[in-house]
Amino acid sequence: MARYNFDEVIDRRKTDSLKWDIPEGQLPMWVADMDFKTAPEIMDAIKEKADEGAFGYTIVPDRWYDAYKKWWKERHDFTIESEWLMFCTGVIPALSSIVRKMTTVGEKILVQTPVYNIFFNSIVNNGRYIVENSLLNDENGYHINFEELERKLSDTQTTMMILCNPHNPVGKIWSKEELERIGELCYKYGVIVVSDEIHCDITTPGKGYIPFASVSNKCRDISISCVAPTKAFNMAGLQTSAIIVPNERMRAKVDRGINTDEVAEPNYFAIQAAVAAFTKGGEWLDELRTYIYENKMTVKKYIDENLKDVKTEVTDATYLMWIDCRNITDDSKRLAAFIRKNTGLYVSAGGQYGKAGEGYIRMNVACCREVLNDGLERFKNGINMYRKRQN
Ligand SMILES: Cc1ncc(COP(=O)(O)O)c(C=O)c1O
Repeated sequence: MARYNFDEVIDRRKTDSLKWDIPEGQLPMWVADMDFKTAPEIMDAIKEKADEGAFGYTIVPDRWYDAYKKWWKERHDFTIESEWLMFCTGVIPALSSIVRKMTTVGEKILVQTPVYNIFFNSIVNNGRYIVENSLLNDENGYHINFEELERKLSDTQTTMMILCNPHNPVGKIWSKEELERIGELCYKYGVIVVSDEIHCDITTPGKGYIPFASVSNKCRDISISCVAPTKAFNMAGLQTSAIIVPNERMRAKVDRGINTDEVAEPNYFAIQAAVAAFTKGGEWLDELRTYIYENKMTVKKYIDENLKDVKTEVTDATYLMWIDCRNITDDSKRLAAFIRKNTGLYVSAGGQYGKAGEGYIRMNVACCREVLNDGLERFKNGINMYRKRQN
């Protein structure tokens, strides 16, 4: 028996939401922000904190460390030591700070495209160069081009790799073998791996991700892992995350970097929310994972039945559908803009995740089924109109 109701339509308009502050009649399915209210257990914890009323400076208490350690041990079979953990105000603040502290201007940072576009900003805005190792995509789905990866890592100017594990936008959970191979190569060439694991808790029921640092001693020693409860529990606006650095010398540098950048101190609700999520949110999360999985199946079925020249797969992680529209266009920006103008549906253009994403659309399906069905209908109409217009 389900305890939580994900079918409820939540009206997020007029709440200053980045996603929902749009004209009436339009439908946002782009930014990775869910439409569901977070777990009631987390809402209660935040209300309790709000009732304290004196919103002074906050420390990071032992229960914050314990909550992360227990969750990763029980859910992801990874033993984290308290000393390895640092609070940070978000994964991207952490990443940008790590880029600045652990590499120098003019060095190269490797990413595997198509990938979360904000990685590009963290690299370029800090005066480093992006090295793209595009993922291979064939009938077996996405996988890593290891020959090219080695060639690019062997460049002495490449000093960092940003891994997306699981991978946004393609929804892939990297296997132990793949992670181990990445670790071997990065170790060999002295490249630090920053593993962004923010999407790790939204996986298909029965499937789990593998923390990069847990795979081998080499992976552990070269890794900086960024984790958070924010994607899985829909609380990105609370700005709460953690950095895991087992290697002591690297940890000291990262700690110095995030403190210099002033992103190491929690706001009043950040600790309470994270602890509530990891100590009381498990049951809610598992029901959410089932709901999202069913949404993904719904999208796949709908697209297979209604749009023969568009393809998508139910991937193992994230609440994002990666939709192959290459039979329709190789200009996803134009397609996304067209769909938006003609149907009011906001989806993300695949090209923004790197050239390898061109011709794809990313759709956020973390919404109730009623909204999902509305989105799918708009998507179908948008594609059909676009196709007619092309002819
Ligand atoms: C892979 C990835 N990393 C980081 C973020 C953002 O993290 P934060 O809000 O903690 O900066 C997102 C948000 O969509 C993401 O997809």
